[in-house]
Amino acid sequence: MIRVIAIDGPAASGKSSTAGLVAERLGWAHLDSGALYRALTLAALDNLGERGAGSGEPWPAQRIIGLADELPVRLVRVGQVFRPEVAGVDVEQAIRGDRVTKLVSAVAAIPDIRTWVNTRQRQAVEGLGVGGGGGGVVVDGRDIGTVVFPEAPLKIFLTATPDERARRRLSQRGEAVDGDVVRRESQALAARDAADSKRRIAPLKPASDAVLLDTTALTLAQQVTRVVELARGLFPG
Ligand code: DC
Repeated sequence: MIRVIAIDGPAASGKSSTAGLVAERLGWAHLDSGALYRALTLAALDNLGERGAGSGEPWPAQRIIGLADELPVRLVRVGQVFRPEVAGVDVEQAIRGDRVTKLVSAVAAIPDIRTWVNTRQRQAVEGLGVGGGGGGVVVDGRDIGTVVFPEAPLKIFLTATPDERARRRLSQRGEAVDGDVVRRESQALAARDAADSKRRIAPLKPASDAVLLDTTALTLAQQVTRVVELARGLFPG
């Protein structure tokens, strides 16, 4: 049995924080698939020129992929965590900025880009050798349970209301959490969710056998505990 836990859900639903803490509690590895889409977007912005986030592909897929192979853009395992790297530089911080966030959905909607990212994710997980006993890996994203690891024995789909997600995102950034700002952030999140849900290929949606977890009224610790309990029930040892 492949020892993968897939955690999917909309933007700012706490996937990566939850996945990271669940992995820590289980002593498993953690892979944030969004980081790879973000690292590709950053590499393109820095090397292929700024492009607007309008409709259509921001750059031809082959230019992004050619660049990604040349630089390279890759995931590097550091302990139990995969870090995104561009040309040998750790970009974990740089990929969280606004310019990447605004454009990443458009890059992630390109079919050839998704194929490239999925191959890298599967290779990273294969490299861990998580088919047998011992450790495993928690992978978070939008299509992990539906497309990348449909055979994952545990699939979680996290949700929370847009306003709650906006509040979390703002406090995570250390920004004031007041009415107007929450509304603006909530609208920006909703726009990204709409783009991720409506795209033709691998849209954001729960797998048919995913456990739906509404975290609106849960603390991070509570949602982590819930997933760890489910994991302990499913994965022996
Ligand atoms: O989780 P995140 O905000 O870092 O993800 C960034 C973008 O990448 C998000 O807009 C959707 C896309 N993404 C995706 O399409 N599939 C994934 N498995 C992960 C992320």
